[in-house]
Amino acid sequence: MNISVVGTSYVGLVSAACFAELGANVLCVDSDSRRIGTLLYGGIPIYEPGLEPLVKRNVGDGRLRFSTNMAEAYADSDIIFCAVETPPAEDGSTDLSQVLNLAKAFGSQITRPSTFIIRSTVPVGTAKKVMEIIEDELAKRGEKIQFDVVSNPDFLQEGTAIKDFMSPDRIIIGIESKRAKKVMAEIFFPLKSNNFPIIYTDSNTAEMIKYASTSMLATRVSFMNEIANLCELVGADVNIVRRGVGTDSRIGSKYIYPGCGYGGTCFPKDIKDLLKLAHGHDFSMEVLSAVDDVNIRQKHILFNKLSNFYNGDLEGKTVTLWGLSFKPETSDMREAPSLIT
Ligand SMILES: NC(=O)c1ccc[n+]([C@@H]2O[C@H](COP(=O)([O-])OP(=O)(O)OC[C@H]3O[C@@H](n4cnc5c(N)ncnc54)[C@H](O)[C@@H]3O)[C@@H](O)[C@H]2O)c1
Repeated sequence: MNISVVGTSYVGLVSAACFAELGANVLCVDSDSRRIGTLLYGGIPIYEPGLEPLVKRNVGDGRLRFSTNMAEAYADSDIIFCAVETPPAEDGSTDLSQVLNLAKAFGSQITRPSTFIIRSTVPVGTAKKVMEIIEDELAKRGEKIQFDVVSNPDFLQEGTAIKDFMSPDRIIIGIESKRAKKVMAEIFFPLKSNNFPIIYTDSNTAEMIKYASTSMLATRVSFMNEIANLCELVGADVNIVRRGVGTDSRIGSKYIYPGCGYGGTCFPKDIKDLLKLAHGHDFSMEVLSAVDDVNIRQKHILFNKLSNFYNGDLEGKTVTLWGLSFKPETSDMREAPSLIT
């Protein structure tokens, strides 16, 4: 099976290397020539545990290749994974320009039945929008080529991304046709045969699952940060509280570690986007709104503690911060609490 993955960062490069490891021939394309140059010379442009040997092995075996040329992707395969960035726009919504530009290029360049699979995190309704763009492009060309758009959100956690791909809790696939289901079943067959569950649904629901999952995790983090703050005031030990709460099988121990607030590319952006979506439908998400507010406040907590310790007199003090990225085992500094001024 030939697959092309567009975008060679956490989602794109990890997915590409893992698909290659599972036996597919994968072409990884990025418009950033420095990134592709690094990969062509045997380097890895991001830090992700286990990624370097995985990439090297699959490049060596000839199943993983890199290019800056999108035309090669369309010539090579009829399955295109979109793993480009979807950064926050100034108004709090998601800037979808890179996804939509890729959809436009797909519509203007495919020459045979093809599948466009959205692995980037996108607002609900994006797959439908992408479908319309591709239809428009094909109409401009006077072509009637069969195509499918699939929503296949990525749930990886930086630091454990390879394990998350190879042993997923579930794979979510949003489809609008039987043909797309067949293609996706074939792509994920190696994981399905290992009994990892695949949930098929429509594209809007798949897109919503991604946002709802992220929001639930962020809610746990903000909730536990508030409990930690209260623990300090009443003289309770939050670490024991966390253990006591996390050993309840109805709750579980993940994402209840108190800290300086969540960061990274996903949580802050996806939550703002879901709030924006709700707002656009005249619906107010009170819980999620509070989750975001608590997180913004929490990012100042370390500084406030330090300042209080020195009675507000920090002049001339030299401070060392240990752990700058937004979480352990990643080099990703995006939205890291250490950047807050
Ligand atoms: N990083 C994560 O932990 C994570 C987890 C789940 C989902 N996501 C989502 O996945 C998407 C990708 O995130 P990321 O952190 O892997 O990527 P990123 O934002 O770090 O980088 C995306 C890459 O896409 C490339 N690119 C952009 N437009 C292109 C084009 N037209 N052609 C070729 N290459 C192009 C860029 O050069 C860049 O290298 C985002 O939507 C993100 O929200 C990220």
